[in-house]
Amino acid sequence: MKTIHIKPSTVRLLLPLLASELADSKATWTPDTVRSLRMIHSGDLPIQQPAPRVIVSRMAKGGVGKTTIIANLGSALAMMGHKVLMVDGDPQASLTSMMGVDPMDDGIIHVGHLMHKCYMRQPVCIKDSIKAIYSDGHLDLIPADITLVNVDSWLNGAVSRELLFARLLRENEDFFCRYETILVDTAPATSVLTNALMLAGRELLAVVMLNGSSIKALRVLESNVAEINAAIPNLDMGIHIVANGWHGGYSDCRQALDSLVKTHGDQLNENALPLSTSFRRQDSLMDGIPSGPVLEREPSSDSAASVAALARSLADRYRILLDGRFIRVLSDIVLKDTANG
Ligand SMILES: Nc1ncnc2c1ncn2[C@@H]1O[C@H](COP(=O)(O)OP(=O)(O)OP(=O)(O)O)[C@@H](O)[C@H]1O
Ligand SMILES: [Mg+2]
Repeated sequence: MKTIHIKPSTVRLLLPLLASELADSKATWTPDTVRSLRMIHSGDLPIQQPAPRVIVSRMAKGGVGKTTIIANLGSALAMMGHKVLMVDGDPQASLTSMMGVDPMDDGIIHVGHLMHKCYMRQPVCIKDSIKAIYSDGHLDLIPADITLVNVDSWLNGAVSRELLFARLLRENEDFFCRYETILVDTAPATSVLTNALMLAGRELLAVVMLNGSSIKALRVLESNVAEINAAIPNLDMGIHIVANGWHGGYSDCRQALDSLVKTHGDQLNENALPLSTSFRRQDSLMDGIPSGPVLEREPSSDSAASVAALARSLADRYRILLDGRFIRVLSDIVLKDTANG
């Protein structure tokens, strides 16, 4: 578990209006102090019993950046003061290792174990599965390991299989309500587990790597979602697209973005993540050093600025609450004298 010290320049990236007075401050911040300041300056009353917003990253293709985006978003939203839970829903456990948890550890309790307890109607102790990534409950993880591949073997026989993750969240809302958002990373292949994870959110975060084959995969995902919507009345699941790997110098990248804007402009987030070495994972399994989110490692980089812009946009889009209040990032109240405590 890490205590994160956030530089004023990083707070300014994440919450530009809140931090406009902090530029010269030498103080560093923790997610908890950012949270307290945002709460102090919000005049809104808390909404009662808020449920966490669930964001599921998805694409019917491997290696497009689903895990990279979930890890970086989790870190950014926590640094904005939110309480964030990440769920690794991929037996490859890339999110788990990227967050510095060893998927080879014996005691890992993954989401499949929790869903099985729920299916068997046994008490579920979710706390036992949680790995704390940042202190004060700002960034927690339900990790994965390779045994998550076994889940489909029993899940296939469960009548309520596609709804089981949503049911786990609902039946344990006393626990999950301590979080303001739940970010779920999924495996590329379609499976019953992946379908169940997808169904917990109202809108998928579709990650498209800017090349021809990812756009083809987007069509596959769209047909999956159309099938889900046809089968479940009133669900009306949507897709919000994040483009990854933008590089203006590559013509195939420009063409892919042009075509995405033409065909899916209304679903496309305005912030594309650049193709950058800051996102490239030095293989953590080889050298034992997880690369971690860019806001931790390279807060002054262009990649960090892109992640912050994406996090701001998604915090507003999904109306992620802060202590029961929805505080629009782009209309935060300017901080004045409280900068140094
Ligand atoms: N914008 C980027 N710039 C450079 N490298 C990137 C970028 N996004 C992702 N990568 C790298 O590409 C590889 C694949 O990314 P990632 O693991 O996030 O994809 P994924 O969609 O989760 O893959 P999988 O389907 O296997 O889970 C990783 O090595 C990652 O570090
Ligand atoms: Mg992944």
